Amino acid sequence: MTPKLIIAIDGPVGSGKSTLARRVAELMGYVYVDTGAMYRALALKALRHGISFEEADDALVVLAEKTSIDLRADDGTQRVLLDREDVTAAIRTPEVAQAASKIAVNAGVRHVLVAEQRRAGVRGGVVMEGRDIGSVVFPDAQLKIFLTASPETRAERRWREHQQKGDAIDRQKTLEEILERDRRDKERTNSPLVRAADAVVVDSTAMEPEEIARLVVLLAKEGAARTTTN
Ligand code: DC
Repeated sequence: MTPKLIIAIDGPVGSGKSTLARRVAELMGYVYVDTGAMYRALALKALRHGISFEEADDALVVLAEKTSIDLRADDGTQRVLLDREDVTAAIRTPEVAQAASKIAVNAGVRHVLVAEQRRAGVRGGVVMEGRDIGSVVFPDAQLKIFLTASPETRAERRWREHQQKGDAIDRQKTLEEILERDRRDKERTNSPLVRAADAVVVDSTAMEPEEIARLVVLLAKEGAARTTTN
């Protein structure tokens, strides 16, 4: 029987992780898990409750412990349920993105969410994307991809996504927000965004999404064959 792998995809904002993870999951018949959506959903709740984003704030950890975040596959898209409310669209604003990056600094919050992520992926057959999947959540994942692209390309992609949704967002401001999130995600003490030593680095700047997905599926098949013969 073909083993069901854990495929970890990490990288900075706008590198194309979601598109890649979703497509690879589809091609492999695996489950897709967007861990950023979990941080975003919790951040939305914290914003609504007026809870501060200070690094050592225990109120955030208490909030994380009593919050239910459910990721549902729905016809190729992922729906995000926060305490049973559908917040799929509500979590995709620049305000929630910045808030998610701020609460993600909190070690207690990460502890709660990482436990959830491990439960979701432990049986394999999963493509999980985030910042610390290959380094912390599943350090033994059979395939790790570190996806990157130039900041300008990433800002352009994010700006276009907002344009398509009809959100009027300044191009330069999008780049500044991306750089600010990059800095916070990379410099935090707890589980910063790093490339795991055994991750394959893929630069999506000059590659088509489908080309990258096929490359990752090839690597996954090679990994599966290796797992079977070992
Ligand atoms: O992938 P995203 O842009 O939806 O993630 C939102 C924020 O959540 C990101 O700026 C940092 C945080 N995050 C994290 O710290 N660890 C993860 N595994 C996923 C996201």
